[in-house]
Amino acid sequence: MNDPFSAKILITGAGGLVGQTVFSFLKNKNFTNLLPLSHKQLDITQNERVQEVFRSFKPEYVINCAAYTAVDKAEKEKTACYQINVNGTANLARAAAHAGSVFVHLSSDYVFDGKKREPYTEEDPANPLNYYGYTKWLSEEEVRKAGGKHYIIRPAWIYGRFGNNFFHRVLQWAKEKDVLYAAADQTGSPTNAEDLAEFIYFLIRHDKPYGLYHFSNEGEATRYDMVREILRLTGIEKEVIPVPSSYFKPLARRPAYSVLSKEKIKKLWNYPVPDWRESMRIFVKRFGYDTQN
Ligand SMILES: NC(=O)c1ccc[n+]([C@@H]2O[C@H](COP(=O)([O-])OP(=O)(O)OC[C@H]3O[C@@H](n4cnc5c(N)ncnc54)[C@H](OP(=O)(O)O)[C@@H]3O)[C@@H](O)[C@H]2O)c1
Repeated sequence: MNDPFSAKILITGAGGLVGQTVFSFLKNKNFTNLLPLSHKQLDITQNERVQEVFRSFKPEYVINCAAYTAVDKAEKEKTACYQINVNGTANLARAAAHAGSVFVHLSSDYVFDGKKREPYTEEDPANPLNYYGYTKWLSEEEVRKAGGKHYIIRPAWIYGRFGNNFFHRVLQWAKEKDVLYAAADQTGSPTNAEDLAEFIYFLIRHDKPYGLYHFSNEGEATRYDMVREILRLTGIEKEVIPVPSSYFKPLARRPAYSVLSKEKIKKLWNYPVPDWRESMRIFVKRFGYDTQN
């Protein structure tokens, strides 16, 4: 393959958590031809605009970090969610297939119904419980239908240094409340956005085989476990009370269990998947969250 560091890489949704993390990760690796476009700069539902960007930039890789991600609101804003996650993805996937670009798409663990009690593999059938998950599953179908070179990655429970993600929300709650409540009846796979960016970087350099891959940190956690770990690592002392998720009266149902198996990437590449607690420990130290309180 050509030098991957000079490859033209379009990053959509570049203002979001994963978009910003991937951009900053690749920039630090000295990629020289990155085009990060925020929602304002490229609305993926505007097909004409998508085509225009492909014509002018001619990306060799497209990393699609754009999505409608408000899981609860999606139950009430189905049209907007569908338009972005399904039609927007289809616009990009078709343009990428037409241009011969490699399309890297992000899906979600919420394509699963959570009835299993052992990690979900890429072979397990999707059966989403909520509308957001349904559109993420349809987005995968659009990528496959477009017929181009693609990677579909399913991460889960992503946290990182940008935006209003779970990690930042816990720190905010800890500032505002004396006691924190966290769901203890949903078990999933936390994903450090930095590790996800590193996996995307790995795929770009290896360039095959294309297909569907699960990626999250290793191990499993409930939201309660995550809250406790975030507080412990950042040195904040607060009482945390485990509650059922129904306590928060969410609009969207979520899988009770959505741990992702990483066996495929481990077998294929011997890919080293960091444990979630260790990864969070490194994240907290690296970005100074342990010194901010
Ligand atoms: N966060 C998680 O826990 C999680 C878990 C599993 C999978 N994922 C997937 O990972 C991907 C990245 O998510 P994230 O956590 O980075 O979410 P995020 O922080 O909400 O980022 C999504 C970005 O997409 C942008 N966007 C929305 N509509 C758009 C449109 N029509 N055209 C272009 N951009 C648009 C948003 O911009 P505005 O905010 O300006 O609208 C936002 O910057 C998504 O595919 C998501 O489904 C996330």
